[in-house]
Amino acid sequence: MSGPLVLGFETSCDETGVAVIEGLTIRSSLLASQVDDHARFGGVVPEVAARAHVEAIRPLTHQAITQAGIHPNDIDAIAVTRGPGLIGPLMVGYSFAKSFAYALGKPLYGIDHMEGHLFAPRLSFGDYEPPAVVILASGGHSQIVHVKAWGDYEVLGGTIDDAAGEAFDKLARFMGLGFPGGPAIDRDSQGGNPDAVRFPRALRDRPYDFSFSGLKTSVVTYLEKARDADELPLRPDVSASIQEAIVDVLVDKTFNAVEATGVEVVGGGGGVLANRRLRERLASEADRRGVGLFVPEPALCTDNGAMIASVAVSKIRNGVPGDDIVGDVTPGRRLDA
Ligand code: KG4
Ligand code: ZN
Repeated sequence: MSGPLVLGFETSCDETGVAVIEGLTIRSSLLASQVDDHARFGGVVPEVAARAHVEAIRPLTHQAITQAGIHPNDIDAIAVTRGPGLIGPLMVGYSFAKSFAYALGKPLYGIDHMEGHLFAPRLSFGDYEPPAVVILASGGHSQIVHVKAWGDYEVLGGTIDDAAGEAFDKLARFMGLGFPGGPAIDRDSQGGNPDAVRFPRALRDRPYDFSFSGLKTSVVTYLEKARDADELPLRPDVSASIQEAIVDVLVDKTFNAVEATGVEVVGGGGGVLANRRLRERLASEADRRGVGLFVPEPALCTDNGAMIASVAVSKIRNGVPGDDIVGDVTPGRRLDA
């Protein structure tokens, strides 16, 4: 099935994402990264992010439309992340998308960011269909979701403190590995021994929940003791051990949910799913149990406009009307609010 043609915007954090998709086929998907703007602060500065989105969004939109080989009038609908995320960055994307939709006279779909991550595998796999258990792990959220049907979700559990990506980011920062931390630890752990240090795996007694704040304390204490004893471990060993502790928990809890629900499909989305070790471990566990694994390529795990557009495609196909763009749709409002 081809069409509809949707222009999607993602500006909830530090990447401006603009994409054109036709049905579930990507015609163009562009990103303006702000990593360099934030690196010197060791994390995303919301005000800096909002300003960078303002600068990037117009030229990036022009480029996405040109690269897709379409005219703006060909677009059937516009999709934009409406939350959750940083309010300043969200407002930039939302205002731009809303104005563009208004000017073109096309419907606007405000999309939940996490639903975008949840849909992303559909852009890579034509046969990704619920019922499924989906592990969503990003910088701000970590959840295990039972997808009964598209649009019918039960959140089985999630983090009770830091998100998985946040744990990577904070630990990488503490170790001086730079920003963003997930890719830095992923790289640094290559060649490291994941069994070098046994960091804690928390909340063993809660099947679908995670906690990563204890891991942070444990790594900090471990490194301080090692420094005092003048026995500094090899950094790749520490990175690989941290990564293993996070990955272990994410994999275990995902497959707890697979067992409990009896589903045969596992999906994944969010920046942390770009992690090489996590992808490997999910793949071998899915293989061992004979269930299908649907984790898209890394560029579709991290934030992008195509995943946002893909949720709108599904809504349009189901006859859901666009938002009231003249009325009071509030950016940042959650889907379920
Ligand atoms: O989904 P995402 O791009 O943005 C949010 O919605 O937050 O996720 C960003 C998070 C960051 O915490 C980043 O460190 C993490 O995903 N991440 C990774 C990797 N690539 C990105 N974590 C572990 N390994 C990676 N390769
Ligand atoms: Zn995200």
